Amino acid sequence: MNKDLDYIFPDPPEGVDPRALDPERIPESVAIIMDGNGRGAKKRALNRLKGHKAGIEAVREAIRCASDLGVRYLTIYSFSTENWKRSTEEVTGIMNLLRSYLSNCVERASKDGLRIRVIGDRSALDADIVEMLEHAERETAKFDKLDFTIALNYGGRDELRRTMTKLAKQVQEGTLAPEAITEDVIAKHLDTADLPDPDLLIRTSGELRLSNYLIWQLAYAEFYFTDTLWPDFDKESLKEAIRYYNGRERRFGGVK
Ligand code: IPE
Ligand code: IPE
Ligand code: MG
Repeated sequence: MNKDLDYIFPDPPEGVDPRALDPERIPESVAIIMDGNGRGAKKRALNRLKGHKAGIEAVREAIRCASDLGVRYLTIYSFSTENWKRSTEEVTGIMNLLRSYLSNCVERASKDGLRIRVIGDRSALDADIVEMLEHAERETAKFDKLDFTIALNYGGRDELRRTMTKLAKQVQEGTLAPEAITEDVIAKHLDTADLPDPDLLIRTSGELRLSNYLIWQLAYAEFYFTDTLWPDFDKESLKEAIRYYNGRERRFGGVK
């Protein structure tokens, strides 16, 4: 936890465990920028791909813990539209890890009641991966314990660009009036159309930036940054983030 932020925790009422989470204030929707896999590997003198592998284990743990704590929607940034800039070796390695994750995710999801969704532009992904994603989405659509969304080849600006193209086509065809483009209409055409906006954004590894993640949806989220590297992010780390969230007063532009 960032020590500079200690001031945001109000004193708990007498007899209340200051470390306990407020069950009434568990964020319904949590978005994570899981950053620091490469540095996690470097710290252990391993190659970057080992870091991504450890990152997948941390994702599994985050899913379990989020679900146990009562989070309903979890969205993780797994590959950005900018991550293609990395070496072919790293990109291929990440895609292969994804293949291996997807190969048994339906079986695991059915045990955990996990609904898997994917956001981002699939057109640049290999056909077998797209097939596996569609299979996972189809087979887990009936589960409702936790909605787990994977942002893959995702960029907030790219999502807005694709959304604008969709809307422009409707205007061109005469099925949508320009004046009818409300915030709600835009939201309903984003990749996240069926998902609520995140209440809490977590970014690991000490970077204080959005890196093109959910730029529309995070408009009113609470932001939590931690120096912990993603492979080291565990149950306690998630609880710490939610504890931080518990201490925030959300105003949405109003006055309390
Ligand atoms: C995040 O970890 C995972 C992906 C972007 C795929 P990084 O790979 O960015 O790790 P660092 O930032 O280099 O440590
Ligand atoms: C953001 O992390 C993308 C993902 C976690 C998938 P990056 O490591 O790519 O972001 P930058 O380059 O530090 O902004
Ligand atoms: Mg990074």
